[in-house]
Amino acid sequence: MPTLEVNFLGYRIKSPILVASGPASHDVKQIPIAQEMGAGGVVLKTVVSDKFDYMRYWPRPRYKLIDWDKKMNGKSQYFTLYSYEQAYSGSIEDYFKFVKISKSTSNIMIIGSAFADEPKDWIYLAKGIEEAGADAIELDISSPHKPGTMQFETHFIQAIKSVVENVKIPVLVKLAPGPDVLHQAKVCKELGADAVTLCNRLRGLEIDVESQKPILHGYYAGVGGPWAKYYNFKHVSEVYNEVGITISATSGVLNWIDALKYIMLGATTVQVLSAIIVNGWETIRQINEGILNFMIEKGIEDLEKIRGVAARNLVEPDLIVRWSGEKKSGPRNVFDDW
Ligand SMILES: Cc1cc2nc3c(=O)[nH]c(=O)nc-3n(C[C@H](O)[C@H](O)[C@H](O)COP(=O)(O)O)c2cc1C
Repeated sequence: MPTLEVNFLGYRIKSPILVASGPASHDVKQIPIAQEMGAGGVVLKTVVSDKFDYMRYWPRPRYKLIDWDKKMNGKSQYFTLYSYEQAYSGSIEDYFKFVKISKSTSNIMIIGSAFADEPKDWIYLAKGIEEAGADAIELDISSPHKPGTMQFETHFIQAIKSVVENVKIPVLVKLAPGPDVLHQAKVCKELGADAVTLCNRLRGLEIDVESQKPILHGYYAGVGGPWAKYYNFKHVSEVYNEVGITISATSGVLNWIDALKYIMLGATTVQVLSAIIVNGWETIRQINEGILNFMIEKGIEDLEKIRGVAARNLVEPDLIVRWSGEKKSGPRNVFDDW
């Protein structure tokens, strides 16, 4: 019988599907629900150092679904979830309790998530998360809401180094969707990170032409949706082919086919959030069922057998077949084809 179980960062987890950090992992009551739905683990909402206390207070409303009314086969498939929700809203001490309770009330993988500025703050958060019993920690260096002045080279290399040197649990680094995903993934590996999470959402902007102002809170927001998977498929395949670091994919998963594509492109786990927000917790169960049915139909016993298969099938540009018929030499008359 095929199994959805996967080896991830030294753990055997029952499904590659994880709940991504955000509003579905902000409360102890959500952890047993994620487990019941069949998630292999949960990345908890990101906790921040006290310097970023203002991030703990959320504007309301903090979400808007854009283009939700544009349907295909009765379903909204190309919507954008526009949102401005920054950090875990409790104190750091509350967060450590949150990790502890999440561990004691579930048997799935619990991954803490943190964001800070100074290395000493990163270390404080990371050690606290480890001591509270988390199975791993994800460094959210890529939030679309982080201060724009903080860059990978100037701030985060030191942060990754500090955390890697100070905790024993596996460290995932969540990267932004550009511009240097491949380069940053290579650096993460060199610094000793155990995995990269690819990729966080983009920073975007929507305005209202009547009021001539940005909508909601009036500032840039995080944007994502099912359309976001395509550029991220490329990042995942590229890092899989060229870096050789464990990948947890995130962005744009609406259904089991999207999740399976990430696995075929090299991801070991797939983190889902927007689909849970818009379609409910059942999404996790449906994704698991869809992948399992596919495995049964194709006789695939283990996801390891198909991990990265599509990334390995990429055709190098110089081997792309560019002529359907006989290859012509010399410049062609482009107007012939019209
Ligand atoms: C409302 C909202 C809040 C989020 N909060 C966090 C967060 O605190 N930390 C983090 O690392 N990512 C956060 N994310 C990003 C998600 O974890 C996830 O990586 C991203 O939304 C892409 O996956 P999706 O397309 O399945 O939503 C948030 C996303 C949304 C929509």
